Amino acid sequence: MGFSFGKEFRVTIFGESHGKVIGAVVDGCPAGLRLEERDIQCELERRRPGRGLVSGRGEDDVVHILSGVSYGKTNGGPILMLIHNKDLDSTWYERNRYIPRPGHADYTAFVKYGGHNDNRGGGFFSGRMTAGFVMAGSIAKKVLAKMGVRILAHMIQINGIKAREGLSDEEILENVAGSPVYCADRTASELMVSEIRKLIEEGDSTGGVIECRVSGLPVGLGEPIFDPVEGVLAHALFSIPGVKAVEFGSGFGLCSMRGSQSNDELYLQNGRVVTKTNHSGGVLGGITNGMPLIFRVGIKPTPSIKKRQRSVDLRTMEETEIEVVGRHDPCVAIRAVPVVECVTAFCLLDLMIMAKMIPKVMGEEDGSKGS
Ligand SMILES: Cc1cc2nc3c(=O)[nH]c(=O)nc-3n(C[C@H](O)[C@H](O)[C@H](O)COP(=O)(O)O)c2cc1C
Repeated sequence: MGFSFGKEFRVTIFGESHGKVIGAVVDGCPAGLRLEERDIQCELERRRPGRGLVSGRGEDDVVHILSGVSYGKTNGGPILMLIHNKDLDSTWYERNRYIPRPGHADYTAFVKYGGHNDNRGGGFFSGRMTAGFVMAGSIAKKVLAKMGVRILAHMIQINGIKAREGLSDEEILENVAGSPVYCADRTASELMVSEIRKLIEEGDSTGGVIECRVSGLPVGLGEPIFDPVEGVLAHALFSIPGVKAVEFGSGFGLCSMRGSQSNDELYLQNGRVVTKTNHSGGVLGGITNGMPLIFRVGIKPTPSIKKRQRSVDLRTMEETEIEVVGRHDPCVAIRAVPVVECVTAFCLLDLMIMAKMIPKVMGEEDGSKGS
């Protein structure tokens, strides 16, 4: 079931890049949550092409909720949401149907589906599928916000340019809004933008690293053996196309530390157990410890580039060359920032429902009073 995720808050993604629609079905959302298309639309706007540095594909991505909401509130049934694909041009894909793009899923999809794969725009391997992730995640975000959980993702590295460390969540939130690459360090943001412009001229692409911080999580989320918080998140985050690395807390850095450096010492703050440092990224034994959950997501360079590269013609089984022409992001990591937030949201909400921390019926304010 490669298109569905979650045990209690279940998300199914459907559609293809150049098919009629892209969408998501969410099953298991608490009833009574005030929900309108605007709630989902504002998250979709953050993912949409158009920040000047992304694909020229002109889609309005207007979301429609077709079920699961009545009288302005979720009714407990499956919520089906979709957007229509309008700006379609399959010419290049039809011409190159049998020549897989290096770095893309064309070859693996061709073999796995016996040549029946929809290669137009990458079919369901397209980054456009992440619109479905955002639809599902925007609902989860809304529920989590009512429970005091805030998810904040931002760009910390593009093409080797690193953002300054040590900014507070408030600074990140404020600065990210004005950055075309969602980077909270203004100087690094400008450098990243000019680097990307250079790459566009050269017909090349680059990757990036996104950091995600979650505050307000209770202690005790996650299951010790097969559903640790890290495992659940990594499972879903690796489903975002282009993700090649996920690192929690100090991650690989921990491997070259001493225990005396890596252990987060505990102390009391207003009667609450907290830690001085947060090398563990807010998770111990697969379970949240009440400190901010912090992880980084590494995204590879966009595979479709204008430079000539070697490939194989799968029809003739002869080596050939390919040069990708079309509307591709020079750095897919940019649009992945809101996607990371939304994927994180539906994972965490699923874990919170599993831990019985979310009421089946949401109250007006915080979910505690059924309406
Ligand atoms: C938001 C987003 C947009 C993307 N846009 C493109 C694109 O325009 N061109 C492209 O070649 N790949 C794009 N990708 C990446 C490919 O979909 C991805 O590299 C491909 O499916 C192969 O999967 P893998 O990199 O996870 O192995 C995008 C990814 C995301 C998250």
